[in-house]
Amino acid sequence: MKVPDAIERVLLDEETIAARVQELAAQISADYADAEDLVLIGVLKGAFVFLADLARRLTVPHHVDFIALSSYNRGAVSMGAVRLIMDTRASVTGRHVLVVEDIVDTGYTLDYLLRTFRARQPASLRTCVLLNKPERRRIEVPIDYLGFEIPDVWVVGYGLDYADRFRTLPYIAVLKREVYEQRSGGTEN
Ligand code: PRP
Repeated sequence: MKVPDAIERVLLDEETIAARVQELAAQISADYADAEDLVLIGVLKGAFVFLADLARRLTVPHHVDFIALSSYNRGAVSMGAVRLIMDTRASVTGRHVLVVEDIVDTGYTLDYLLRTFRARQPASLRTCVLLNKPERRRIEVPIDYLGFEIPDVWVVGYGLDYADRFRTLPYIAVLKREVYEQRSGGTEN
């Protein structure tokens, strides 16, 4: 497949991602071997690809649900305001909840999710995150299962977007700086 012009370089290729997702799935399957009712909650939109691959590699029974959030004014992430767009279909009370995220950047989204779910009294609450950008963190959040730590670059593909584009690239790639600097002048992802 041709790499789009907007891409500077491939950061994580398909094989590298698949191998790491398999490792995460094996670890999660071992840790939840005795869990009665495990529910994976994917955070839309970005997590849909990661969640699909991860869930299909689990060897323990589980349910899948989704939640959708949006940040107020993405350009002013320091505000840290997150809004609930769509809640999970089923209740999480008394269930083992694993939040599945594509990326943690400032940490505001995951912090909001953890506060929201904690209030609903799940049996347990953990996080599985494919990509972590520690340089951008504004608020500390626990990551129980992590795919990769990455530098502060704008990444797209494997669910991640720029202006809702590039989500279905099979690899994770660095976007050319000129592409996002034309519009936002920032590096938030
Ligand atoms: C991205 C990503 C996380 C969040 C992380 O979502 O999927 O949910 O940002 O950023 P934070 O740590 O700074 O809060 P985005 O708002 O881009 O929406 P999307 O998943 O629909 O692309």
